[in-house]
Amino acid sequence: DGFFSEKLRVPEALTFDDVLLRPRESRVEPDEADVSTQVSKNVELNIPILSAAMDTVTESGMAIGMAREGGLGVLHRSMDVDEVVAEIERVKRADELVIRRENVVTARPDQTVQEVDEMMEHEGVSGAPVVDEDDEVLGIISGTDIRPYLEVGEKDSVEEAMTDEVITVHEDVEAREALELMYEHKIERVPVVDDDGRLVGLVTMQGILARREHENAARDEDSKLLVGVAVGPFEQDRAQAVDEAGADVLFIDCAHAHNLNVIDSAREIKEEVEADVVVGNIGTEAAAEDVVDFADGVKVGIGPGSICTTRVVSGSGMPQITAVSEVADVASDYDVPVIADGGIRYSGDAAKAIAAGADAVMLGSYFAGTDEAPGRVITMNGKKYKQYRGMGSVGAMQSGGGERYLKDEQEDEEFVPEGVEAATPYKGSLASELHQLVGGIQSGMGYVGAETIPELKERARFVRVSQAGQTEGHPHDVMITDEAPNYSPGE
Ligand code: XMP
Repeated sequence: DGFFSEKLRVPEALTFDDVLLRPRESRVEPDEADVSTQVSKNVELNIPILSAAMDTVTESGMAIGMAREGGLGVLHRSMDVDEVVAEIERVKRADELVIRRENVVTARPDQTVQEVDEMMEHEGVSGAPVVDEDDEVLGIISGTDIRPYLEVGEKDSVEEAMTDEVITVHEDVEAREALELMYEHKIERVPVVDDDGRLVGLVTMQGILARREHENAARDEDSKLLVGVAVGPFEQDRAQAVDEAGADVLFIDCAHAHNLNVIDSAREIKEEVEADVVVGNIGTEAAAEDVVDFADGVKVGIGPGSICTTRVVSGSGMPQITAVSEVADVASDYDVPVIADGGIRYSGDAAKAIAAGADAVMLGSYFAGTDEAPGRVITMNGKKYKQYRGMGSVGAMQSGGGERYLKDEQEDEEFVPEGVEAATPYKGSLASELHQLVGGIQSGMGYVGAETIPELKERARFVRVSQAGQTEGHPHDVMITDEAPNYSPGE
């Protein structure tokens, strides 16, 4: 055989619809299956889910929502460095026990109660510590203190109306301690002071209760929400800045990370930052071999995404299940976690990706229709949608996403896009989408007999599905009358 005909003796590469998990004996109750996982060498999540670094998917609202549910949002990089730093800070502040000084609304003793009443209304708070010029806490004033004065209508001062016996706590206060104090003294907020009695923050009952609602949240060692951030392979400055701002995981964001210049640069970034560094995207064993010695995680996906046209435009790509398994073969030897990125339409696809060797999955289209995604709801023909576009689409590249595709910013007709701009059905809250997604993965764990994510990777076996088998696997020969929360035909 000649060189060229030899080339056509090709291995088969499979994707989600080509395979199913073979059911195995099991004692696992799906609800009890443990879905916590490692997303990178030093960062653990409570659910194996990430939201994509795309400008129609992940900004701080999505990142906060993802981390509260135990997963990780990866902030996109089509924004200025200052902006992304502010976004990181928003995530880190979201569930903070102590509201920091600069965010605490305060009153002065010589203000009138009318002024303070208006200010509190405007700021959306129901009470405020009263401080002097040196920020020393003199008292605390709340709506309840003010009301009798307002009714009389005199211009009384805050000093007169405030409660001046204030309960304060020190900075290292713990949630339970603060809560006990509040119950004991029937108060809703406690100023946090330094050794000189100066205001450094505020703990509120509302804040503590909000934190309790998210017991499963993914948090750092200071109990702040985790956040991932995408950086371009050659963006050393952005990498430094987001690292300093407290990003927990940096994602080197490139459509083809097996470009050797990208790898050299990623290696340099890894040396300069404290955060974990995930390198992607890759899709072959050879690429994995070139990054596992320094990466804290690898991300897999060459062209599986719902808005991707990489494969049709370039003629290159790797069906996702095979890509994940090839990379996982190498990465598992080095204990480097693997993230399967793109192409997941149903929860079963996520279970299959993990069975093929992934530790976590990243989704874009699945989340783009939720309230937490950027952008507004649009109505077309009486149905609600949100915008969703590929970061390699013309629109996204114009707003700065081109580098991912190793392309310079150009005039629009000059772009060779690798993605499309689309609309996706509006879906409501992220929490309910995640509930379905995680529940489906747990269900898969039940069928396979896996109590944990590592066990799912270990125990799961695949069967190959024919076209007929695939048709059999979807609802067939019926007309669906009621929408299921986790299935829509032809998705
Ligand atoms: P899903 O299928 O979850 O995929 O919507 C999200 C992932 O798709 C990748 N992505 C792109 N791939 N052209 C591509 O070839 C694009 O324009 C594009 N935009 C995003 C990305 O990996 C994302 O996480």
